[in-house]
Formats: sequence, structure tokens, C-alpha cells
Amino acid sequence: MIVGIIRKTSDSSVYTKTEVMRCQLCFFPFYLLFFFYSVDSSLAQISINEDEQQIQRSQFPEGFFFGTSTSSYQIEGAYLEDGKGLSNWDVFTHIPGKIRNNENGDVADDHYHRYMEDIEIMHSLGVNAYRFSISWARILPKGRFGKVNPKGIEFYNKIIDNLLLKGIEPFVALYHQDMPQILEESYGGWLNHLIQEDFLYLATICFNEFGDRVKHWITLNEPNHVAEFTYLRGELPPARCSPPFGNCSAGNSDVEPLVAMHNMLMAHAKVADMYHRHFKTTQGGLIGIIAFAFMYEPLRYEEVDREAVNRALAFNIAWMLDPLVYGKYPAEMHECLGLELPRFSNSDKELIRGSLDFIGINHYSTLYVKDCIYSACSMGGDRPVRGFLSTITERDGVPIGKPTAMPRFFVVPRGMKKIIEYLKQRYDNMPIFVTENGYSPKIQHDEHVEDLLQDVDRIKFHKAYLAALASAIRDGANVRGYFIWSLMDNFEWASGYSVRFGLYYIDRITNSLQRIPKFSATWFVSFLAINHTQNSTTKRSVKPLKPNMIHSTVEAAKIAANM
Ligand code: FCB
Repeated sequence: MIVGIIRKTSDSSVYTKTEVMRCQLCFFPFYLLFFFYSVDSSLAQISINEDEQQIQRSQFPEGFFFGTSTSSYQIEGAYLEDGKGLSNWDVFTHIPGKIRNNENGDVADDHYHRYMEDIEIMHSLGVNAYRFSISWARILPKGRFGKVNPKGIEFYNKIIDNLLLKGIEPFVALYHQDMPQILEESYGGWLNHLIQEDFLYLATICFNEFGDRVKHWITLNEPNHVAEFTYLRGELPPARCSPPFGNCSAGNSDVEPLVAMHNMLMAHAKVADMYHRHFKTTQGGLIGIIAFAFMYEPLRYEEVDREAVNRALAFNIAWMLDPLVYGKYPAEMHECLGLELPRFSNSDKELIRGSLDFIGINHYSTLYVKDCIYSACSMGGDRPVRGFLSTITERDGVPIGKPTAMPRFFVVPRGMKKIIEYLKQRYDNMPIFVTENGYSPKIQHDEHVEDLLQDVDRIKFHKAYLAALASAIRDGANVRGYFIWSLMDNFEWASGYSVRFGLYYIDRITNSLQRIPKFSATWFVSFLAINHTQNSTTKRSVKPLKPNMIHSTVEAAKIAANM
């Protein structure tokens, strides 16, 4: 097949000039013809288990939100345009050796210029929600110490307005990894309590400017992931850590993750308090936070590992959610960390307790957990800051689930039900949104575009995880929405563009950045469009499409969905 020649050179993501020229010649329209003619046969061959086969939109409550997720740095590009300031990620990605293949988000998916097309794509998918984040440095290039950038406000206004015009509910995160670099340089970012005021300043501007239309606010995406990967492992900017966790030029892995988390939690509390007191009555929205939520299982069939699982959940999720719901850190953390754990003053407690309207979770995978109190562990598992436990991806040489492109993400659908169950019990069935769930195939060196487009494994992944989620809901969990990570392939942090979570492929070979639907986009359309009264066991087949029927790629997906 002609499209088969489009592939990377064996050991890098760089394409030879001849390959690029060949690609430009062959990419379109033959390429799309191949894609659509293939939909029939390949989708028909997907073998899925009964639960997955039965998964339908009708198994979710009325008003349930189905959407896609992105974040500013990962898709926007335009990193120096229209008055935007430099962010910590703009600076970090330009340091040689930090990112795979030295890639960066300078252009990313060029969403800054193509947002209308991206909203159109979402509309064609049939989603009723979209979760995105605001680039802090685009709104406040110099943080609290400079002016508001009107072009930044205008950009997000256009996004929000156009989403609403298409019936898509905006879920807006105020922080997703990127902050003005100046805040990092002038006082150390999340390590300094001053950041709480900066974040409050940003949030107040956003509530004033966008709050008449945004009804779902997320303060912070994954404070627990930021604390671990920035200040314990030292892999993300400003990359601070100490041995045995890593070799950074500065940092203290035993202490700084705790300090950073404390400041993030207090920043959330101040923002939520501001919203609840000054905006909620007039704007009527909700405010939540997002946890990076692995599920855990005991490595050995022993009580000590079962207890280690409880500690893992406490040290990862309850670490951030217990203070926001109950006004204190989990008992499990107090026991391990004692005085190392920062304290909430009485007035802090007043502010932070009950500061959540909903819980967001980004759930991808499950890990095994081994106790490190009674068993020997290395790599920091024996340190209080890790809760005296080790997370492990395989048992007796067998991985916990099918491997993916991310070293610690395995396909374990049962974990979705278990994590929801944990949150339901611990937080009295507070509303939950699954704000990210997605799959990226294991990276092959000789990757073919056709393989990336025929992403049947991604479809299987979503069906299986959705089936587990539906089962949790049947058991009474108060889940309100599910967002696929991600709308389109994008800049996956330290992995650059080599890891692909998108429903849409982005053509970086010709540099056109064209959005091309994968099979999973077609599947998502059909999942969202299915008539609720249809018998779930009805066999459907996808008919081949004639090229002239294809007005747009998504149009075609819709046709496929209605067969
Ligand atoms: C989540 C991040 C998101 C993306 C996915 C794969 O933890 O929130 O930006 O990187 O992982």
C-alpha cells in the first residue's frame, strides 16, 4: 500500500528529505481513501469481550458529560505570540537533553491558530464537553507583577464562545503544569507561599472574564503528579530532587514535594473560597481539582502488602483530597512523616475544609505495591516521603496489564472500578468526573502511519474502561463525566511527540499539522450517537464508503456510526 512507505527512520523521529517529499505526494488523497476503505474490514475484526461489546452510552445517566481533554502547553503553540510571556515549559524544553529528541511546544498542534477547526472536530465527534487549560503566561505574562494580556483573554473568550455555540460545555483548568517563568525565577514557584497570591490573582481574573459562561472550574491539574515528578523525581521543570530519587543540581526530595503540595492545596483553598464567596451566587458554577489517580493492588498475597496498598492510596490521592474535604492530611501520612508534614493553622483548616464541589481524576493504570516496612526495598521505597512502599509493574515477570508507550501505564480496566469505589467510600460519594483516560500504543521504531490510524487497541481500551466505569455507576457511584485524553496527538511532556494519545493523528511528517481521524474517532462518534433504545446485541457492520461520499473525515465517521 502506498501509505506504507510513510515511516520514521529506524532510530529517530527524523524523516529523510526524500521520505518527506514522498509523503507530501502520497499523503492525500490516496491516504484517506485507504483509511476509509479499511474502516470496514478492520473494525469488523475487532474481537472484544462481552462487557466491552455491550458498552453503550445509554448505560450512563442522563446529562452525563462525554468529552475530550487537552492542556495549553501540549497543544497551543504560539509560544511568543500576541503578548504571551515565557512559561516554565518554554524555558525547560529549550534546554538540550531535557526532552526526547529535543522537541518542544513552540508550535505544538498550533491550536492557537486552529482552534476553530478543533472545535469543529469536537462537534463532529458529538461530545458535549471539553476540558482544556488556560496558559497562565498568556493571561499574565509577568504574573501578579505585570498587566493582563488582552489578547490572551480574547483567545479564551473565543474558545469558550465557540464551544457553547456548538453545545459543548467548557471545563476549564487554571493550571496544567505551565506557569509564568518569572514566578519560578523570582521566588521559586510552588515552593514559596507567595504563589498562593499569584494563583488567586489569576483565578480572580478568569472568574471575572469567563465565569459568566464557565460552569465547571478546575483549579489545579494533578498537584500530586507535579509534587512527585517535579520535586521528588526531578524530571519536570524546574527539575529539583536529591538522591536516591535522582541526581539534580538542587532540591530535597524528602521535603520539597510536601512543601509544594501544601502551597498548591492552600492556593486551591483560597481560590475556592473566593469563588464560593464572590462568584458562585451570580455565576452558579462548581469548582474542583484533579488528582492523578493510579489504582494499586498488593504484589504478594500478604497482609503487609494490602496495608501498603492503603498507604499508596493515602500517599497519592488522599494526600491532596483529605485536606480539601476534611481539613487535614491522612492519618497514614501523619504516622509515616510525623513533623515533616506541613501543618494547617486553624484558619487554614477553616478555609481548606469543604473547598471542593467535585473530584476530578485522571485514571490510566494500576500498579502492584510492595510493603517496605517489613521487607527490604531500594530506590527510595524505604523513605517516609514514599510511605514505606514500592510500586511495581510486574509480578513474577508478568506485567500487570498490557504495556503501553508509557513505562508505568498498563491496561488494567478493573482498576477504573476500584479507584471509583475507593473515592466513593472515602469521600461520601462526592461527584466525580473522570477528567482523563486514554491510551498510547507502545512505540515502534519503524512506525507506519497506517498502524497509528488503525488504532483498534485504543478502541478496546476505551470500551473496557468505560465498561468498568458503567459498572461502578450501576453500583451507585456518583460519576458525572468521562473525558478522553486526548482530542489529538500532542506534546507529551518529556516524551515529546513520540507518545500519541489522540483520537486524531497530527501530520508532522509533511508539517501540515493536518488533523486526521483515527479509527478510535470513528468509534467514539458511533458510541456517542447510538440510539439509546437500540438493542445492544444488534450486530452492526460498517459499510465501505465511496470517496465522493466523504465531505469531511468526521462526516464519514458519522456515516459509519449509523450503519
Ligand atoms: C496526565 C497529564 C496529561 C498527559 C497524560 C498522558 O497525567 O495530565 O497532560 O500527559 O497524563
